[in-house]
Amino acid sequence: MKKLLVSVGLLTCCLLSACSGAKDTLKDKYKDYFPIGATLSYTGVKNDTFKNVIGEFNSMTCENEMKWGSVHSYDTVTKKHTYAYQQADEMVEYAQDHDMRIRGHALVWHQGLGNEDGTTSWVFLDENDETQYATKEVILQRMRDHIYEVMKHFGDDVYCWDVCNEVIDDNNAIEMYEDKSNVYRASDWYVTCGDEYIMEAFRYAGQVRDELGLNVKLFYNDYEMDNPIKVAKTVEMIKKLQENNIPIDGIGMQSHYDIGNFNMDNFENAIITYSNLGIEVQITELDVSVYANGSAIDSSPSSWFDYGSDEYYYYTNIQAAIYGRIGEIARKHKDKITGVTFWGLGDEESWLSKYSAGDYRYGRTDFPYLFDIFQERKTSYERFTDF
Ligand code: GLA
Repeated sequence: MKKLLVSVGLLTCCLLSACSGAKDTLKDKYKDYFPIGATLSYTGVKNDTFKNVIGEFNSMTCENEMKWGSVHSYDTVTKKHTYAYQQADEMVEYAQDHDMRIRGHALVWHQGLGNEDGTTSWVFLDENDETQYATKEVILQRMRDHIYEVMKHFGDDVYCWDVCNEVIDDNNAIEMYEDKSNVYRASDWYVTCGDEYIMEAFRYAGQVRDELGLNVKLFYNDYEMDNPIKVAKTVEMIKKLQENNIPIDGIGMQSHYDIGNFNMDNFENAIITYSNLGIEVQITELDVSVYANGSAIDSSPSSWFDYGSDEYYYYTNIQAAIYGRIGEIARKHKDKITGVTFWGLGDEESWLSKYSAGDYRYGRTDFPYLFDIFQERKTSYERFTDF
């Protein structure tokens, strides 16, 4: 009798969930592996743009709203700056309301400093003579002040920080690596402070974490993190931190791919190499463009295509195969990977279509995610969750 009741109960549950249309979400599928995240923008949050798919994710990264230029309000006349957290705060609340954990992105970066017009940011300039760089001491102190204020403000609402973003040079020519002329990116940070700013950023973030008793992990985040030369340079930097007893807990592999540039072996080897340094690995900005950059498909408008065209199905199928592989390799290394985050939620809105503040990159629309322009699951979704 008991058996019969249990069976009836089970059947009712199945019927109920079938009727209510309840399906497994991404985060459910991956619950035994790692959290699945997405980037949100302030407008996306205000308009609840992705309300149909937000429940698929359990981690959130602010696209821009926690970056230096967003949390500082700088008055070019009075030369005073104040901290401005309103947008990021609203996004934190939204994420928490949706049971998402929050990645802090990013404390120190050469872009996003509020000088998108291409001029040198106030961060590097002498207060009394803006034709000159400030001294290294002044710049490092500004960096420390920023790290302290921002880490304190968000406290334990974020579970990790990208302490530095993209400090490794992206010229991966072997000869330049061999003569060590291109380990670090020649940014304003590097030109004024050498690699000391990287060491100091992590050291100081560790100090702030201890002083404030925060439960946050400290990450390094960058793109092309599976290019073997870039891996070698990154490993060199991490070892330098570790040899100096400076804390670093994890590596963020941004993972902006396209249908022509994903190399399974490089991806897997990089995960293993970083993990062998005793740190966590996360995929932090995943997307797969349906245009192979640099190839003929990008070179003329005649190769751009629209949603629903034959090309759309052809290329999103290639994309799906890549997403299948990425999911498979990530799951295989679930002991090393502590999060996978997409750089967006659905094809309706993407930095690859509206690259750089609304200018259409190459003048075309991209379709880089698991959900289509109507927030419906694509073949890429099926392949990513095919296990
Ligand atoms: C890099 C940064 C991100 C974002 C993207 C482009 O990957 O880390 O914050 O700016 O570029 O959207």
